[in-house]
Amino acid sequence: MAIEQTFAIIKPDATAAGHAGQILGMIEKAGFRIRGLKMIRLSKQQAEGFYDVHRERPFFSGLVTFMTEGPVIVLAMEREDAIKQWRELMGATNPEKAAEGTIRKKFAHNIERNAVHGSDAPETAAIEIPFFFSLAELL
Ligand code: RTP
Ligand code: MG
Repeated sequence: MAIEQTFAIIKPDATAAGHAGQILGMIEKAGFRIRGLKMIRLSKQQAEGFYDVHRERPFFSGLVTFMTEGPVIVLAMEREDAIKQWRELMGATNPEKAAEGTIRKKFAHNIERNAVHGSDAPETAAIEIPFFFSLAELL
């Protein structure tokens, strides 16, 4: 299995609740190498651009409001099979359906305020990482 990159966000709910440290610990323990990491506050325009695929969905405006309500931590990371492995560690979008031991089971409040984001495919990661990181910021 080849080394792969993925992109993650620790969302405003988890960052504000002080769960970032535990989530970063889970990421490191799961064998991801962190290539880039920073705390930022998304503008409305950035959040809309980032979630452009969901623009027509009924939850879009609520999602943009949520993602801009406070700081987030964005991460570029890699390991073997990173995309699938990170989505497994995140757990299901709806925390009621998330497996024991996953981040969303532990820290998500509901289907929207669900603690973390992860790329869903290599093509998505290849867009999401440069959306937030310049080459010089990836170590
Ligand atoms: P993400 O993109 O954030 O990693 O989450 P995901 O793949 O598990 O879920 P996705 O379907 O891509 O949805 C993106 C984010 O939109 C919010 N959402 N709200 N109110 C709702 O029904 C609803 N559905 C989705 C969540 O914050 C979800 O993670
Ligand atoms: Mg998604």
